[in-house]
Amino acid sequence: MTDVDAPSGLTTLVTGGAGFVGSHVADALVADNEVRVLDDLSTGRPGNVPDGATLVEGDVRDPNDLGAAMEGVDLVFHEAGLVSVPDSVERPAESHDRNATATVRLLEAARRADARAVLASSVAIYGEPESVPVAEDHPKEPASPYALDKLALDHYARLYNDLYGLETVALRYFNVYGPGQASGPYSGVIRAFLDQARSGGPLTVEGDGEQTRDFVHVSDVVDANLAAARTDDVGTAVNVGTGESVTIRELAGTVRDVTGADVDVVHTDPRPGDLRRSRADLSRAREVLGYEPTVSLRDGLAALVESERTGTADASAGR
Ligand code: UD1
Repeated sequence: MTDVDAPSGLTTLVTGGAGFVGSHVADALVADNEVRVLDDLSTGRPGNVPDGATLVEGDVRDPNDLGAAMEGVDLVFHEAGLVSVPDSVERPAESHDRNATATVRLLEAARRADARAVLASSVAIYGEPESVPVAEDHPKEPASPYALDKLALDHYARLYNDLYGLETVALRYFNVYGPGQASGPYSGVIRAFLDQARSGGPLTVEGDGEQTRDFVHVSDVVDANLAAARTDDVGTAVNVGTGESVTIRELAGTVRDVTGADVDVVHTDPRPGDLRRSRADLSRAREVLGYEPTVSLRDGLAALVESERTGTADASAGR
């Protein structure tokens, strides 16, 4: 685990706290802080909100909902958003609203409350990397509405620090997986493969399967958030991945191994605009956050499969 001096005694807000990453962040805060969750439950579920946290059902874009949730807040984690790249290609205006406009509203409210803001940015902002691993100063060539809107979030975070002195940190998540990730047409590939393995297959690899991703366990992402709440280095953006990557074909093989499911692997059409390569350079994360990933893909997958078998899925699975 990253050597995290977790926040305590604060009033905190987690937007998207009924969703995948947000609920794990809320979980990590709730023992030592007052935790509010602002979530419109469009994809999140009330059952994900940890005991002891207060759910404010509402929309980050709505000034009344946001104003009520931000009252007296010292620290906000902005995890709400539209998370799927293909969904954003279907619905660019919706992605812009949920990922860009909502962020400006959130930062405005944080400015009024003088609250530190830790925001979920994305590796997607880099577009197809010129080389890997990708460091934070890599050129930004967003290839989807989602990526462009997250780039706006990332820049706004820095700008609010430059212009208003607001303490902000943007975390550029690589491919996050772990317990509580929703299934469905826009679920991430790990969730999709696990669901396919469970229902007898086949595992559907899009394209040749040689595209690579850096899969990071949600418990490591939570540690990065906690460290970002404390760092002196604000107005910055930091990669959060593992520094390792696998091909999607290799991932299919690992899912077969850890589930023990004797399922076929089939290839379907490649996804338009899909990135070929992705792997995080973690130099800045180490320097700014003292971040060190701790969960290998195989261990994280094995723990996830086991926790689903026994019904004990929580963020620590994988440790
Ligand atoms: C994911 C995230 C996005 C994040 C981005 C950073 C999700 C839903 N999206 O997008 O929020 O910003 O990482 O890179 O987690 N694939 C298959 N078969 C499937 C599903 C997917 O082969 O059934 C392939 C895709 O073509 C792609 C790869 O797996 O090459 C990863 O896809 P996906 O999990 O949707 O993630 P990203 O598009 O990388």
